[in-house]
Amino acid sequence: MTPDWAPAFAAVPRSAFLPPLMWPHDAAGGRAVAVDRTADASDWHARADSNVPIVTQWDDGDHEGSAPGRRFTSSSSMPSVVFSMLADLDVRPGQHVLEIGTGTGWNAALLAHRVGAGNVVSVEVDPAVAEQARGALRRAGCGAVTVVTGDGLLGCPQAAPYDRVVATCGLRSGVYGWVRQTVPGGVIVVPWGTHHCPTEAVARLVVADDGRSASGCFTRPVTFMRMRSQRLALPEHDAYVPTNGAGEAEKSSTAVTEAEFLTGGLGVEGFAVGLRVPDCVRVADRKQNGRRSVWFYGLTDRSWAVVTFRDDRDESVVHQSGPRRLWQEVEAALHWWRRQGRPGFERFGLTVTADGQTPWLDHPSNPLSTAPTGR
Ligand SMILES: C[S@@+](CC[C@H](N)C(=O)[O-])C[C@H]1O[C@@H](n2cnc3c(N)ncnc32)[C@H](O)[C@@H]1O
Repeated sequence: MTPDWAPAFAAVPRSAFLPPLMWPHDAAGGRAVAVDRTADASDWHARADSNVPIVTQWDDGDHEGSAPGRRFTSSSSMPSVVFSMLADLDVRPGQHVLEIGTGTGWNAALLAHRVGAGNVVSVEVDPAVAEQARGALRRAGCGAVTVVTGDGLLGCPQAAPYDRVVATCGLRSGVYGWVRQTVPGGVIVVPWGTHHCPTEAVARLVVADDGRSASGCFTRPVTFMRMRSQRLALPEHDAYVPTNGAGEAEKSSTAVTEAEFLTGGLGVEGFAVGLRVPDCVRVADRKQNGRRSVWFYGLTDRSWAVVTFRDDRDESVVHQSGPRRLWQEVEAALHWWRRQGRPGFERFGLTVTADGQTPWLDHPSNPLSTAPTGR
């Protein structure tokens, strides 16, 4: 916590924005568990004050009871992540701020404490979530925050321009719309990633003097729930791989090991590979009897590949099929990443223009692909 943000965090308790029934992440069990304030108020408060993400909505609200639903669709992010993104935003008193993803309203209230409630506009796609946030903000004395129900991808042009924009849901594309609503020199902070794996990184983009582009480095890894319209249903395996298995596919082998490849957690390898191998989703099977298969599916055609790692072998068998050789692309990207000195997240960056988005390494003049992808 830095001195500039400490008063806001002290004045705006997270608990004031959480519902009586909530699902904090339980570190011991590694999953979200139901905690009901009416049943155990002290446990509820202890969880509210702890540094864990707390699910506040499942299945877009199509969920009842206390058992966790299938997909979490709104949450209060981990306080340390909330703080680090606010620190990245470098916001000053009196600045005009747009938040995308109101959720509980806690982040909007922290911003309101810093810049003045009348300077905060927050967009939430889910009408029920937005209404709850309005109520919580009012009760916390931040009724002057404008909560708009709508698609945050569109921003909120009627209240533009903004000095700062912060998104609290993950994006794959679509940042350019906010660039046009931000002043030159303004800052946009957004969790951004590719479809390759869930790991995202916080992009901190500064809008150019002519207001037509924004560019900047990633600051740190995160995983946010994706923007509603950018959720990706996992590819249907049967639509790619014939029922008789990998038999017809081209067979080869690789010396890349499971440990080098699946580093787990918020490892940079998957993020870097995703930047180099567009439109490719990675799905790792559960490990069984010392074997694990990792599948790759092309999003623009029916290319697929599978590598099967075995604890008792140094070399792993690869099968590939379709117009692309997805494992070859992935392996080449991994070797490229090593040759660059295994760069961490902060050496990568992103430039967004009207033509699309271009990730880069070290400097915008060193793009990772020749053609920009979707805006
Ligand atoms: C991690 S939560 C936000 C946490 C929030 N800032 C807080 O302080 O509690 C992400 C939110 O983004 C919202 N969301 C998803 N897609 C959106 C979109 N297209 N436009 C606006 N909000 C969106 C979700 O409904 C969810 O409430």
